[in-house]
Amino acid sequence: MDNEVKGKGVSRRDFLKGLGGGAIGSAVISTGLLDPNKAEAYPTESTGTSRGKSTINLKVNGKSYRLEVEHRDTLAEVLRDQLGFTGTKVGCNRGECGACTVIINGRSFYSCSQLAVWMEGKEILTIEGLEKGDKLDPIQEAFIENDGPQCGFCTSGQIMSAKALLLRNPGPNEAEVRNALSGNLCRCGNYNREVAAVLAVAGKGR
Ligand code: FES
Ligand code: FES
Repeated sequence: MDNEVKGKGVSRRDFLKGLGGGAIGSAVISTGLLDPNKAEAYPTESTGTSRGKSTINLKVNGKSYRLEVEHRDTLAEVLRDQLGFTGTKVGCNRGECGACTVIINGRSFYSCSQLAVWMEGKEILTIEGLEKGDKLDPIQEAFIENDGPQCGFCTSGQIMSAKALLLRNPGPNEAEVRNALSGNLCRCGNYNREVAAVLAVAGKGR
């Protein structure tokens, strides 16, 4: 089974090469820093404890939170362990698999590669935030209809990468979809169905 996501000239190898600068070139997910050199990326308060904690204010799925986090906490840890958004999966915890993908201020990021203290003032969307009332988001429906999930472990990350793409480009072509998903590994090798699911939504204004 070929574990590379192959689009036109885009592969996981290309994707990983692009990580050297901390941001992805043509691929969409960002694994690097939001921009730690900017003051806005850091929390405004610190409790100054020996464990290095800070209080941050952020929005997750439209709801505001004020949280105390350790400086070593990743966003994935805070989402899952403090806030209970366990739909965000942790596959590798080192920026390689994409299972932990969430949307931060409209762009997809590996949440295991973002420190929680960098989230001050950010708006985060997780898989739990896609559903409206009892209605699944069209991209979730499309994954179901197209057998996107096999074991399902990569699925929430795949969907969040797809959602980020559709938010900025409602009508992507196949190459653009494969590019957007190139940072999300599927150990079940179900890439063609995952791409088909995104294409089923593309251009439908959903
Ligand atoms: S768990 Fe974050 S990239 Fe694998
Ligand atoms: S569906 Fe099993 S890892 Fe993708």
